[in-house]
Formats: sequence, structure tokens, C-alpha cells
Amino acid sequence: MNMLHLSIANIANFVTSEEIAKFQPAITQSFQSVFDKTGQGNDFLGWVNLPAEIDDEILSDIEKTASYIRDHAEIFVVIGIGGSYLGARAIIEALKHNFDFALSHDERQKPLVLYAGQNLSEDYLSDLLDVLNKRDYALTVISKSGTTTEPAVTFRILRKHLEDKYGKDGARRRIIAITDKSQGALKQLSLNEGYKTYVVPDDIGGRYSVLTPVGLLPIAVAGFDIRMLVKGAFEMQQKLAESSAISENPAAMYAASRNALYQKGKVVEIMVNYQPNLYYFTEWWKQLYGESEGKEGNGIFPAGVVNTTDLHSMGQYIQEGKRNIFETVLSVGKPQKTIKIPLENENLDKLNFISGQEIHFVNQMAEIATTLAHVDGNVPNFRISIPEVSEYYLGQLIYFYEFACALSGYVLGINPFDQPGVEAYKKNMFALLGKPGFEKETEEIRKRIKE
Ligand code: PA5
Repeated sequence: MNMLHLSIANIANFVTSEEIAKFQPAITQSFQSVFDKTGQGNDFLGWVNLPAEIDDEILSDIEKTASYIRDHAEIFVVIGIGGSYLGARAIIEALKHNFDFALSHDERQKPLVLYAGQNLSEDYLSDLLDVLNKRDYALTVISKSGTTTEPAVTFRILRKHLEDKYGKDGARRRIIAITDKSQGALKQLSLNEGYKTYVVPDDIGGRYSVLTPVGLLPIAVAGFDIRMLVKGAFEMQQKLAESSAISENPAAMYAASRNALYQKGKVVEIMVNYQPNLYYFTEWWKQLYGESEGKEGNGIFPAGVVNTTDLHSMGQYIQEGKRNIFETVLSVGKPQKTIKIPLENENLDKLNFISGQEIHFVNQMAEIATTLAHVDGNVPNFRISIPEVSEYYLGQLIYFYEFACALSGYVLGINPFDQPGVEAYKKNMFALLGKPGFEKETEEIRKRIKE
């Protein structure tokens, strides 16, 4: 099997190899901190050896549970927010049919995976209930803390709905909780109710948890090969552990180069892909990097575009707007399917010059053309290539990005494994909602509300 490939050829006009090499000492130290567990947030490094440590027992257990759900549910609802749902969604959306919802009953993914608890929209939940009223379903509720408002509110509603629909015993067989091994409200509720549970390890934060049951259970339920996903991650783990040298380790190169660009005022990184089914992969990456690095008035702002769609919206800004951007193109070697452009005798649309070509070839030319245009417009471009979108290569990408994020965060001088800023809105929301214990904050915040 091939390994993903990082190309830095199109950042060469913007940072010299000497400027990148200056980061080698910081990268070496960060690399050591990751393995020696001596850096900031070292309680949250369980993801580092995770691909090597996942054993057959846990994979088989997850596959058995997934198989039970596949036999008993038309719909599987994944309740979770942030790191407790984005990894699963990234992989499932990347691998599933783009128009699954419109396929015939026999052709469709079974069960259909739907997501809840990632917002507080009453209309969203109400529409979901409309669907769940008519279909057999099961759910997983994923929350490491067990107290996050969005999934907790959603679970309260869906749990009641399930119990009304199937009775208490029937509902119990359709609920799987993924949470802390010993504490939190969800753990207690699961113990009281006798739900099947999986553990989010103490030393793995939400956004690094896709290779735990948090990601693996929904991905297995959706019918994808979790063993190949883990294998891809494991082979990337082995590769990245070999050397901290920027010239040999692509994650070290990516981490060093993006920091070199950042020091030159490139404060926004756009992940670019040319496959709409990678939209949620970008969302996962945005959370990983945004939540890990955006701290202490620092950090590269992670954004995303799906081309060529966004070339007709964001393309103008990227080409000619404020020059504080760099891009990382996630490039896919070959599609799963083939469509050739037909020859037409009349040729009114003047497209015969590309007749006989596959659409993917045109897409690749769009990718190369755009990269060169953006480089000309002063936008440095990384390219990360994978041969195809498959469980194996997505596994490689996951581990590559996680490892690079840890290095990059340490180089930046922050703790890449906490997220203190996420608490600020929660405190205000609890105060506004009048949560017991927040009386003083409630009084203060209500005075601040303006028309
Ligand atoms: O990466 C993280 O840690 C966060 O995005 C969490 O996953 C998210 O806030 C949900 O937290 P919890 O799993 O405790 O409900």
C-alpha cells in the first residue's frame, strides 16, 4: 500500500527551506514531548499509540454490536457534538453514496445514519422525530463528560421517544452510551438503566477520539471496514514515529512549514478538496486544528472550501482578497467510479476537445490550474495526496493530521489538548437559562442584554 504524500513545491515562493529548517529544534523537542509525555496536556496523549493498541477484542465487540443494530434498525441516530460526532461523520460521509437518501430501499445504506445533539434547533429535532415516528431506529449517545447540553437535551427527548415507541426494555436494547469509564451523568444513567456502554479513554480528548468507539461504532454500523481504518492509522503511526527530521517525516514538515508561513503573516489555512463527500472530513480537520491551536491570541484560523463549487463563490477572495491565506489541497488520485464525456456531432457547447476524457481528469486539471493561479495570487499551496478515498487512506489521514496537530501546537507554544475557550459560551448560556448555582451570573448577564 502507498502512503499519503505531502508536496511543498508550491510553498517554495513564500518560505525558503532554511526558514523551514529553523523549526527543526522545536519540532525535535515537540516530537520527544509527544513520546516522552513531557509536554503541556500530557494527560491527553492516549491517541499516540492508539492504532497499535486497539485489540481484536474491542474491534470484534464493536462489530458484533454494529451487526445487531444493522439487523434491528432502519435508522441509527448518533447523538453527540464536536469531537463526539465529527470524526464518525467525516468517515461515513466520505465513504457513502452521495445520493444515498434517494436510492431505492434495497440499494440504500442500512441503517441510515443520522446525527443529532450537534445543535439546539427545535425544527431540526422536530423534523427528525417526524422521521423516527415512522421508522425503526436505534441510537448511540456519545459524550465524554456526559454533561454537554446539546447532546443531553437531545438524548432526553429521544430516550423518551424510544421508550414510548418500544417500551422500557425495547428502548434499552436500542441505546448504546459512549462515555467516561466511571463518572458523569451519562455514565450514571447508563448504569441505572442497564445500557450497553463503551468507554472514551481518560487520556483521549474528543477531537482525537475517532479511532475509539466514539468513531468506530457509528462507522461500523454504517457498514464500513473499521479494521482497514485502524490499519491505515497504524501504518501512518509507524511511519511518523521513525524520525523527527523535517526532511523525512511529512507531519513534521507540515507542522514546521505551516508555522513558517504563519510567522510570515499567513494566518488563515484553507483545506481545499475537490470531492464533495470530503466536506465533513474538512469539518473534522477544522475542529482538530481550531480547537487545538486557537489559544492565547494565537493560532492559524482553519477554514474549508469544496471546489470546484467554491471557486464560483470563495474563489474570488482567495485569488485576490487579503493576502493572509495559505491552502492545503487534499488531492485524491482516482475516483471510485468512471464517467466519460461523450462526443457530440453538433458540438454546440464546444466541448468535443475533451470528449472521451473522464470527468476526474477535468477535475484534476481544475485542481492544478487553481493551485497555480492561487500561487500566482500569492497564496502558498500544500498538497496532500492519497491514491483514493477508502477506509485505509482515511485512517492514514486521521493519524497524520492528529500527529501534525500535536507537533504544530507545541511549536506554537500552546497546549494542543485542552479547549478552555469552549466554556465561555456555556457559562453565559447557563446564566441566561437560570441554571441553579449561576444566580449571580444570571443577574449580571441579564443587565448586559441590549435590544
Ligand atoms: O474535542 C473536544 O474535546 C470537544 O469538541 C468535545 O468533544 C465536545 O465539546 C463534546 O464534549 P463531550 O463529549 O464531553 O460531550
